[in-house]
Amino acid sequence: MADLDPVFHKHRGVEPVIRARGVCHWFGTSRRTQVLHDVDVALYPGEVVILTGPSGSGKTTLLTLIGALRALEQGQLQVLGRELGGLAAPAAVLLRREIGFIFQHHNLIDALTAGDNVRLAMQLKPGYSAADYRQRPLAVLRDLGLEAYAQAKPGRLSGGQRQRVAIARALVNQPRVVLADEPTAALDEESGRHVVQLLQQLADERGCTVLIVTHDARVIAAANRIVNMVDGRVASDVDIEQREAVCGLLRQCQVFSDSSPSLLADVASHMQPEMFATGQDIVTQGAAGDRFYVLIQGQCDVLQQRGAEITRLARVAPGGFFGELALLHDAPRAATVRAVEPAHALSLAKHHFLRAVSADANLRRHLRQVAVSSG
Ligand SMILES: Nc1ncnc2c1ncn2[C@@H]1O[C@H](COP(=O)(O)OP(=O)(O)OP(=O)(O)O)[C@@H](O)[C@H]1O
Ligand SMILES: [Mg+2]
Repeated sequence: MADLDPVFHKHRGVEPVIRARGVCHWFGTSRRTQVLHDVDVALYPGEVVILTGPSGSGKTTLLTLIGALRALEQGQLQVLGRELGGLAAPAAVLLRREIGFIFQHHNLIDALTAGDNVRLAMQLKPGYSAADYRQRPLAVLRDLGLEAYAQAKPGRLSGGQRQRVAIARALVNQPRVVLADEPTAALDEESGRHVVQLLQQLADERGCTVLIVTHDARVIAAANRIVNMVDGRVASDVDIEQREAVCGLLRQCQVFSDSSPSLLADVASHMQPEMFATGQDIVTQGAAGDRFYVLIQGQCDVLQQRGAEITRLARVAPGGFFGELALLHDAPRAATVRAVEPAHALSLAKHHFLRAVSADANLRRHLRQVAVSSG
């Protein structure tokens, strides 16, 4: 079976571009309401990350904190190597220059043409030549299909066109980070797809980190990762490539062979890869059971001790699983499972396992069919 190491450790040794640790936020003065609770998230170069969640779950608040548009109250937040806690105003201005913002309210200047709106953003960043000032805004507008509208003022543009001008403005300085709040909300199917392609290209070709708040399925399809927020907390953080890789492996395992794609995706998004050395115990007889395991590589023995006598009940090969009985019966482990050679397994926490079992009759059937198991 495939080696998961490269997909699970692709960021090894790479510093995140954005890292939040324990970020909390409150609104209000007399009656303070907490809207972010201990948010932990890390975003790496070249990632397109989607932030989803119900209205009021704190997405825009988090985005504005990352963009240094709002003061950090509690926790740690590093963006492009700078710590935002206690960041002085001039330093915040410098940081914002490195970030392309695409917000719901695009705030174009009505008196300026589309081209000049984009050009204005270039003044934030020193070092451009006169030729850059002439050509760059036109090039970015062209990328967004607005070539013909460079001379038009916002009042003459449709909502979607105005939104694309705002996107051009955010991208003209080739930012290392793009923060976008519902960037495709006002766009038709084709322009929406186009904008997503552009953001993806920016990530792929320039290593730009793109964080997008959206419910738009077209955007979600382009994501590398989906972070879901509920009530101000990160409820899930799923790397799509990892999930696909794990799904592929699980499909080859008999126990999941009849599971629906959605159940498989849900299980895969909660599975953790684990490695075990020869002779290492993966589960220990008598211990409390907290995880379910699927073996990916290597071999394991299922060993049961009665008094002084140790019996080998079974050998587990790749594709096999163990650890379910203790979880299903809320009982101690009935046997020890020991790696007899270096082994890779995927493990699933008890509550995720039990949720999958209650949702999937085929999974229950397969678990019942397999007589030999370690518990
Ligand atoms: N300036 C503010 N003052 C007081 N409360 C605020 C302020 N901005 C947001 N809130 C509250 O904070 C919570 C999170 O708001 P936020 O705008 O981050 O949500 P959101 O996930 O972006 O929602 P939506 O999908 O509707 O845009 C909400 O309960 C909101 O009412
Ligand atoms: Mg919002």
